[in-house]
Amino acid sequence: MHRPIGILDSGVGGLSVLREIRRALPYENIVYIGDSARCPYGPKPADEIRDRVFAITDRLLAMDAKLIVIACNSATIAAVEALRAHYPVPFAGMEPAVKPAAARTKSGVIAVLATEASVAGEKFHRLVSTHARGVRVITRPCPEFVSLVEAGETDTPAVREAVARILPPLLEAGADTLVLGCTHFPFLRKAIEDFAGPSVSVIDTGEAVARRVKSLLSSDATQAGEAGEPGKVSLLTTGDLGRWSELAPRLCPELADATLAHIDID
Ligand code: DGL
Repeated sequence: MHRPIGILDSGVGGLSVLREIRRALPYENIVYIGDSARCPYGPKPADEIRDRVFAITDRLLAMDAKLIVIACNSATIAAVEALRAHYPVPFAGMEPAVKPAAARTKSGVIAVLATEASVAGEKFHRLVSTHARGVRVITRPCPEFVSLVEAGETDTPAVREAVARILPPLLEAGADTLVLGCTHFPFLRKAIEDFAGPSVSVIDTGEAVARRVKSLLSSDATQAGEAGEPGKVSLLTTGDLGRWSELAPRLCPELADATLAHIDID
């Protein structure tokens, strides 16, 4: 049995990252913990998010995870440096794709859709001042997008209504590049792209993180071999198991054969 990759998020959002990791590394076992009982993280203070992320990391390491993916921008901003200082395993975190967006924009205006926690801190300001000099960066916290995805709504009238409320001021300000700075938002990508139209680019970080995980594992002796069985995916939620059994395969049909269980983390 290969040691698994551990992935965590405040809820189902990190499944958008899991599916990219699965595509890039189909032979790896994966254990995913979604903290739906405490979702959303976005409006919570950084120390509260950090405490949750440490508690979840302890559980993933108890399951022998060889690498942990913080598949949550809010949790990465709040905790990744402290995690790296505290634990001996490698961590891959999320970061809003400000750098590729700044390289792509033609209008010189980009908009970052994220959570309050992700765009409020010093770390985000550093990201902008390092990688988006000369570009106007508009931030738009969208907690309603997180609630919609947690409720299983990805392309419903409620989603289209929220998108039609949030996007116009950003587009009117000239944004031609939208950054999905929260892992829940790729599940709304179609509704966002349909509203924004073909002249607007939408950028998500899932694929880049999967590449990072692959390169972190390339020197790891416990890497699963290409000739083996497809890896097993185990999804654990601190929230309602019944809702997750319905939600996870709907968001990611490729996870239909994943095992699902409840986990209590205090
Ligand atoms: N999916 C998370 C993120 O990337 C957090 C959403 C939330 O819990 O507010 O930021």
